[in-house]
Amino acid sequence: MKILLLNGPNLQLLGSREPGIYGTMTLEKIVAETTALGKELGCEIEAFQSNIEGELVSLIGSARNNGFDGIILNAAAYTHTSVALRDAISAVALPAVEVHLSNTAAREEFRHHSYIAPVCTGVIAGFGKDSYLLALRALCAKLNCK
Ligand code: DQA
Repeated sequence: MKILLLNGPNLQLLGSREPGIYGTMTLEKIVAETTALGKELGCEIEAFQSNIEGELVSLIGSARNNGFDGIILNAAAYTHTSVALRDAISAVALPAVEVHLSNTAAREEFRHHSYIAPVCTGVIAGFGKDSYLLALRALCAKLNCK
């Protein structure tokens, strides 16, 4: 099984970005931990980070043709704004899990709405880097990895 792990805008700054909200772990470390868990669970992870909405749309759109079986997506601020990302997830029709480090429901009102959640299999938010690990476990259970 092959899983596409996508991270959106400003997540390249994890480690130093608002550590009280997002923790101190870098994105590189989160990706490394997620990839290691993937190995244990029998799936391969390919990770990308982009600040550009269109790049994320293209990566999602080509995921099926590139052999991916599922998607884990932290669309960051685009979660709350992007019809294009939602349409890409809908169009590619692969199981997808929306993740957030922070509990967006407990933050500013503009973070309460996700354009993406309704077209995802599920959402995991509020557990810091463990949100990614939990998302991977959930997706692997759905995809019957191993
Ligand atoms: C985030 C939550 C978003 O509201 C925010 O814009 C982010 C990060 C999270 O992982 O908690 O950039 O997706």
